[in-house]
Amino acid sequence: MTCTKTPHPILSIENLGITYPGGIEAIRSTSIQFQPGEFNVLLGLSGAGKSSLLRALNHLVKPTSGNVISAEFGALNNQRILRQHRRKTAMVFQHHQLILRHSALKNVLMGRLGYYSFWRSLLPMPQDSLKIALNCLDRVGLADKALTRVDQLSGGQQQRVGIARALAQQPTIILADEPVASLDPSTSEKILTLLKKICAEDGITAVVSLHQLEYAKRFADRIIGLSDAQIVFDAAPQQLDNKQLALIYEQPASLTKDETSTDIERLSTQKNLPHKTATQLEIA
Ligand SMILES: Nc1ncnc2c1ncn2[C@@H]1O[C@H](COP(=O)(O)OP(=O)(O)OP(=O)(O)O)[C@@H](O)[C@H]1O
Ligand SMILES: [Mg+2]
Repeated sequence: MTCTKTPHPILSIENLGITYPGGIEAIRSTSIQFQPGEFNVLLGLSGAGKSSLLRALNHLVKPTSGNVISAEFGALNNQRILRQHRRKTAMVFQHHQLILRHSALKNVLMGRLGYYSFWRSLLPMPQDSLKIALNCLDRVGLADKALTRVDQLSGGQQQRVGIARALAQQPTIILADEPVASLDPSTSEKILTLLKKICAEDGITAVVSLHQLEYAKRFADRIIGLSDAQIVFDAAPQQLDNKQLALIYEQPASLTKDETSTDIERLSTQKNLPHKTATQLEIA
C-alpha cells in the first residue's frame, strides 16, 4: 500500500478503529490524511468498511478507538468541536434524505439550519440564507424548480437538490456515501461531474464512496481502496493496476461465500464498467 501524507491536511484520522456491538470490526486501526480540495473516492467490496469510515469522519459512526482531527477545529472530542465540524461537513446520501412533500427550496434551506439556534430555526429563514439557498439551486441547474415539491422531481433532480442542500451549508468537506447508487449510468455521470465541478470551484474536499470502478478512475484525484476493514490501496487512479485491484476486490476470509457472490454479481451487472472483463477476472 502506498500512502499520501500531506503537510497541511484538512482532516486526519489517527489509529481509527470501529468495532460494532457484537464484535464486528468494520475498520481496523487506520490512519489517513485528507488534503484540501482533494476528490477522494473510497472503493471496496460490500462490507469492506467504506460507509463506516466515511461516517466516522463526522462521528455519525462513533470510533471505538483513535481520533478524527479537523485542521480547523481540532480533535472531535467534545460536543462543541463536533458541532462546529459538522456545520462545515456536509453529507450527500444515496437516497438523498429529502423531505418529499417539501419544495426543493425548503429542503435546501435545511442545509442552513446548523447556522442558527434551535429557537431561531423555528422562524422563517433570514434573507441571506434564502439567497444562498436559491444560489445553490441555481448552481445545480434547478433554479426553476425551487418551488416544486421534491416528490415531483426525477431521481437525478432529487440528488441535485441533495447536493444543493449540502452546498448551502457552505462546507469545506463533503461526505457522499454512494451518491449515484440509485441512478442510471447517464444521470450518475452528470451528478458526479456536477459534484466534482462544484468541489473544484469552491475548494471543497470530497470523500465519496462508489461501487463503480470506472467512475472512480475518471473522477477521483485519489482512490482509497478498502478490503476487510483496512486500507489496501491509497494513490492516484493512474496507479490502480490489476494487481492493486485484486488487493481491493479479493475475497476476504471474513466474508461469507454468499455475501461475496452477491457483491460480485452487483459489480458485474454495472453497465458502466467498460473494462468489466479484466476487472471481473481480477475479482473472480
Ligand atoms: N450498525 C451496524 N451494526 C453492526 N455491524 C455493522 C453496522 N454497520 C455496518 N456493520 C458491519 O460492518 C462492516 C462494514 O460495513 P460498512 O457498511 O461500513 O461496509 P461498506 O463497505 O459500506 O459496504 P456496502 O458497499 O455494502 O455499503 C460489515 O461487516 C457490516 O455488516
Ligand atoms: Mg456502504
